[in-house]
Amino acid sequence: MSGKFKCNRLEGKVAIVTAATAGIGLAIAERLGHEGAAVVISSRKEANVNEALEYLKRGGLQKVEGIVCHVGNAEHRERFVKFTLEKFGKIDILVNNAGINPDFGDILDISESVWDKLFEVNVKANFLLTKLVVPHMEKNGGGNIIFNSSYSAYKSPPGIAAYGVSKTAIVALIKALANSCASKNIRVNGIAPGVIKTKMSEVLWAGAEDSTDAQAQIASDAAMGRIGAPKNAPAPWPFWSPTTPATLPESVCS
Ligand SMILES: NC(=O)c1ccc[n+]([C@@H]2O[C@H](COP(=O)([O-])OP(=O)(O)OC[C@H]3O[C@@H](n4cnc5c(N)ncnc54)[C@H](OP(=O)(O)O)[C@@H]3O)[C@@H](O)[C@H]2O)c1
Repeated sequence: MSGKFKCNRLEGKVAIVTAATAGIGLAIAERLGHEGAAVVISSRKEANVNEALEYLKRGGLQKVEGIVCHVGNAEHRERFVKFTLEKFGKIDILVNNAGINPDFGDILDISESVWDKLFEVNVKANFLLTKLVVPHMEKNGGGNIIFNSSYSAYKSPPGIAAYGVSKTAIVALIKALANSCASKNIRVNGIAPGVIKTKMSEVLWAGAEDSTDAQAQIASDAAMGRIGAPKNAPAPWPFWSPTTPATLPESVCS
């Protein structure tokens, strides 16, 4: 095990992370791995999975595996869970990190197909993966499920308001699942990051000098007055993992 964080809080635990070959997901996977967990990463493209695996292994992680999983694809979700059980025998931590934002514009200009896509990936696919994983956690005596929501769940920023509605649904989903899973010793929590500089959020920070009013407002709205880097994003995630006091069954941390 790598001693990058000189911390073994997750030794013996198995974590799976969706959309984990770039940005926040990759940073979360790396952090969980350096905290001692065995980690299975996934995303849609095999080349990205292989590249991310190489990166994590180069960084000293040994208990790391990866598989292609488009979260919106039922077969992929099932294969992801089966693969993890074959490799590591159980799932202690599920990180529902996958989320998309295919459009930028006023909410009333969003097409029906974009609206459907937002909810299909951001809400439904994450819910269905959770539904698949819960019985395995229950069999194993418990677990931790962590969703990636967004500050936009609370602020409805112009330009990404429809995406924000899907992330508000994630907050409601966390509460609903936490109620349902508490008796199974499974805690369900979430993080609602501010703007983090990744490919997905490029529309918010690229070309700041000639940005639109909406883009400028989003950047200036950041609580710390700056846009975050992916490497800063994972710090809270281990907190919601098995080390968290059991009296915190459900919460969303912004
Ligand atoms: N960046 C921000 O400012 C910010 C703020 C708050 C919340 N978030 C949330 O953080 C999460 C990650 O965003 P990010 O900014 O880190 O994105 P990113 O850097 O653009 O990375 C996207 C990752 O998702 C994978 N991916 C895309 N669609 C997928 C799908 N349908 N199924 C599985 N994997 C998929 C990509 O790999 P492939 O191309 O190989 O699939 C890649 O690994 C999202 O839920 C987002 O809503 C982001």
